Amino acid sequence: MPDTLTITDNRTGKQYELPIQDGTIRAVDLRQIKVQPHDLGLMTYDPAFMNTAACRSRITYIDGDKGILMYRGYPIEQLAEHSEYLETAYLILSGELPTKTQYEEWVREVKLHTMLHENVKKLMEGFQYDAHPMGIFLSTVGAMSTFYLDAKQIFDEEARRHQRLRLIAKVPSIAAYAYRHHIGRPYVYPDNDLSFTGNFLNMLFKMTELKYQPNPVLERALDVLFILHADHEQNCSTSAMRGVGSSHVDPYSAMAGAAAALYGPLHGGANEAVLRMLEEIGTVQNVPGFIKRVKGGEGRLMGFGHRVYKSYDPRAKIIKQTAGQVFEVTGRNRLLDIALELERIALQDEYFVSRKLYPNVDFYSGLIYQAMGFPKDMFPVLFAIARTAGWVAQWEEMLLDPDQKIARPRQIYTGPKSRNFVPREKRA
Ligand code: CMC
Repeated sequence: MPDTLTITDNRTGKQYELPIQDGTIRAVDLRQIKVQPHDLGLMTYDPAFMNTAACRSRITYIDGDKGILMYRGYPIEQLAEHSEYLETAYLILSGELPTKTQYEEWVREVKLHTMLHENVKKLMEGFQYDAHPMGIFLSTVGAMSTFYLDAKQIFDEEARRHQRLRLIAKVPSIAAYAYRHHIGRPYVYPDNDLSFTGNFLNMLFKMTELKYQPNPVLERALDVLFILHADHEQNCSTSAMRGVGSSHVDPYSAMAGAAAALYGPLHGGANEAVLRMLEEIGTVQNVPGFIKRVKGGEGRLMGFGHRVYKSYDPRAKIIKQTAGQVFEVTGRNRLLDIALELERIALQDEYFVSRKLYPNVDFYSGLIYQAMGFPKDMFPVLFAIARTAGWVAQWEEMLLDPDQKIARPRQIYTGPKSRNFVPREKRA
């Protein structure tokens, strides 16, 4: 017997059988239940999508209670240990890990696309010297749509393949230019002899040396951080990517929307906010007082809590280990002790325990980025580079899903009832 949900309308005594599939009922099945004789039918009210599955997806699986994260079925711990960012991006985009030949070809193709059009460079030069790099990043990604005539051919597989390659390959260049612009240094062209992450470090930090040599420990640490941030199913920015993309706009414009969503302090801007918070706390002695203020409703403990994880974020565990390796090279970040003390107190405090608030991916990542020499306002940009793989994969999945249409939620209207226009001179 198929799983169904029986709903009885107490007003009419009528019963409705709604099929249950994959642990969900279809919201439109509720339409047959009329609240008023001529209305559209019963709707669900779900601000912030607390309990709504908006798509089917084969990309990322999260079990928030058990702290499990998998890309295409591969546990994040295994990918972080054995994979490289570009290989993980291939997996996320195509569904399978590449063979050796496929991987070499993918890396070669990505490297072919790392250069930015000179006019993109000029466009970036127009920003104020103190412009936030994430503002520069998202504007430039949006502007890229005007550089590629095939960007709008979203139902052409070959055109999509090109946009996919361009986006993955060019975001580190945009990010590095945004950073160099911010600090007033000349832009550095890509060096395709280096790895994806090594080249990114080159474009960020190369000075007058003929050839930039990335530190292998830092190069690997950044690559691991990119793997950890590559996708995270239907988060705020991915939902923006799918939502904007559902209007069939080009992927650059959709990704500008996704990057804008990521910029906010409750999402990808949280790592920047964590560092500012740690600096504001200043010393380990100030931690109990800070926790007290958070519990009293004066702000949040940034880098803690998650909509989906109600246990330790598996990415935070890996980042904590990676931090140790990075600090061996860079020296210990003095803010680490404050972070460790915050975590120690919060994990045994009733307020955080009862609300299941644990460190999330952003709690320790900023400490690593800072130790590696990144200024705080670059942190969300680093997140955006990595998340490009997820955004593009989710965008394509949405486009090719026959269940999807333009995203268009309903509302409950709470404004005034119909009233007549009053000329200006007659208004009280
Ligand atoms: N510090 C103090 N209290 C918190 C925190 C926090 N970081 N997070 C949630 N709470 C409290 C909140 O006040 C509420 O308490 P009450 O039930 O008494 O009103 C309860 O916990 C549930 O919070 P919520 O706001 O309903 O939870 P949410 O699922 O809507 O929000 C969140 C999730 C990530 C936005 C939130 O936990 C938060 O603001 N955390 C700090 C910002 C942060 O670290 N964001 C990065 C998220 S992970 C990476 C990413 O997604 O980009």
